[in-house]
Amino acid sequence: MKNIRKVVIPVAGWGTRSLPASKNIPKEMLPIYNKPVIQYVVEEAIHSGIEDVIFVTNRDKSVIEDHFDYNLQLEGVLERAGKLDKLKMVRDVAEMVNIMSVRQKKQLGLGHAVLCAKELVRDEPFAIMVGDDLMFGGVPGIKQLIDVAMAEKMPVIGVMEVPQEKVNRYGIIAGEEVSPGVYRVNDMVEKPERDKAPSRMAIVGRYVLTPDIFDYLQKVTPGHGGEIQLTDAMQALARDKGMMAVKMAGIRFDAGDWAEYLTANIYFALQDEELRYELIGYLKNILQFQ
Ligand code: UTP
Repeated sequence: MKNIRKVVIPVAGWGTRSLPASKNIPKEMLPIYNKPVIQYVVEEAIHSGIEDVIFVTNRDKSVIEDHFDYNLQLEGVLERAGKLDKLKMVRDVAEMVNIMSVRQKKQLGLGHAVLCAKELVRDEPFAIMVGDDLMFGGVPGIKQLIDVAMAEKMPVIGVMEVPQEKVNRYGIIAGEEVSPGVYRVNDMVEKPERDKAPSRMAIVGRYVLTPDIFDYLQKVTPGHGGEIQLTDAMQALARDKGMMAVKMAGIRFDAGDWAEYLTANIYFALQDEELRYELIGYLKNILQFQ
């Protein structure tokens, strides 16, 4: 398999769960501690050896691309004020990685968003990282999949075990474990009813796929929720050509879910030595008033 150089990051969804915060600010730009959600996702890609980031955006999301561009006016202000550490911080973001983008003109689902990137991906295997899904701890999330994809020469998807009562929120796989934490995928179903799920192994927002997924995406009809589901196309790809799943190590936060978003903020703030003790003090204090 060719090296995985490109990642598609769909960020074109409406973000309805994050309203009203996401009314005019993309949910991917909401901060987790001192960085927007999307910066963590892009940093994970870079730490995994990705060279090109392809954002799938919509008309209201250009601020995401701007975040990874130079802001010469701000840089001038910081330079003149002698705030060189801040200057480096904002320049580093602009110089992080090569950014491309394509519009999803109608929000027809995650599968459709990925299909929009077809002409930029072309004929190489590529990664997909969902723009509001954060993974931390140990080997970068998408790198865990890239390593298995390169070794097995096959598409690989990331999975995590979820409680039975949450299986209806995810795509769920049926598979057999071929080595610790690595599964051969036999089937998958998008958001099954709780008692009909084939397992508790849920597809999380990390994938390494081959470009033939685009042929399948072009053929799938709207599925669950009337959307073009990536899971439906992957199900056909897995059946025809085989697919592996990797049980991902680390912690995951769905930034579109308020409880997980807020937990992620605390998780990162606690890692800042200066902030840590102050924050613990405030948390103890507010708990007394519950
Ligand atoms: P989500 O379902 O989490 O995002 O899709 P959403 O639709 O924006 O959010 P809610 O559910 O209304 O709160 C997962 C990812 O797929 C992208 C989203 O931007 C998100 O990063 N997506 C979803 C698209 O790019 N296009 C779509 O049509 C749907």
